Amino acid sequence: MEYQNILVETKDKVGVITLNRPKALNALNDQLMDELGHALFAFDQDENIGCMVITGSEKAFAAGADIAAMVDYNYMDAYNGNYVTKNWEHILRVRKPVIAAVAGYALGGGCELTMMCDFIIAADNAKFGQPEIKLATLPGCGGTQRLPRAISKSKAMDLCLTARLMDANEAERAGLVSRVVPLDKLMEETLAVATTIASMSLPVVMMIKDAVNRSFESGLTEGVHYERRLFHASFGTHDQREGMRAFLEKRPANFQNK
Ligand code: CAA
Repeated sequence: MEYQNILVETKDKVGVITLNRPKALNALNDQLMDELGHALFAFDQDENIGCMVITGSEKAFAAGADIAAMVDYNYMDAYNGNYVTKNWEHILRVRKPVIAAVAGYALGGGCELTMMCDFIIAADNAKFGQPEIKLATLPGCGGTQRLPRAISKSKAMDLCLTARLMDANEAERAGLVSRVVPLDKLMEETLAVATTIASMSLPVVMMIKDAVNRSFESGLTEGVHYERRLFHASFGTHDQREGMRAFLEKRPANFQNK
């Protein structure tokens, strides 16, 4: 597939996808989301890749769904076209970790995309929000569900009902982002984090991602049971024995992703 709205590159064992519609502040349209899904699946299948990063520009991660593409939609266009379900949620089927490296605006569908990543590293100029109410619509890709889980009902209501934007420091305090870094260090720091993850045993990385995500889908007892099954499964890997032996022998582990 030839990409027109994203840039794709690899940095060692990290796959980097840059949203690239600068004239529209990376507004998300169907073509971009098709390309994003294609690139994510390609990295997920690439045995040389251990972690992925999605980023945008310094001004905008993504300013939301493409309003120009939606403006004339009627109900049947949205329903029959299966809008956004059709191609916005491919990322949820990716098994390797995906980090959002966010600078500038992450609004509407852009904020929702960051929340579908596994975690968010924000530049100090990042701004998050769900301003759909100003367009007389509502978040359509999980914002009303993931935001309260991430930052509390009170803050989610505040953001969704007033359209106010939350800066990086507030987002970190509220638990939406894992770290805030200076804008000029965003990619360097994110790549260091991604490289650390990519140096671990890939099957165990995927088990941990699976287990943490399960906590959003199940009650505590069921979630712990799920974790326990995966914990036991880790003892079926070569890398568990290697990791524990390497610790006891005081040497670096040599993981083989099996
Ligand atoms: N869709 C389409 N085009 C967009 C866009 C969007 N979401 N956001 C920005 N653009 C375009 C602008 O139309 C403008 O294009 P032109 O130069 O051709 O006029 C260009 O990007 C630059 O934007 P601005 O001139 O507005 O830049 P600014 O710096 O003054 O403001 C901003 C930046 C505050 C992010 C502002 O652009 C803005 O409010 N954008 C819309 C944000 C929004 O409402 N997002 C939610 C979309 S709905 C949604 O996402 C639904 C869902 O949940 C799936």
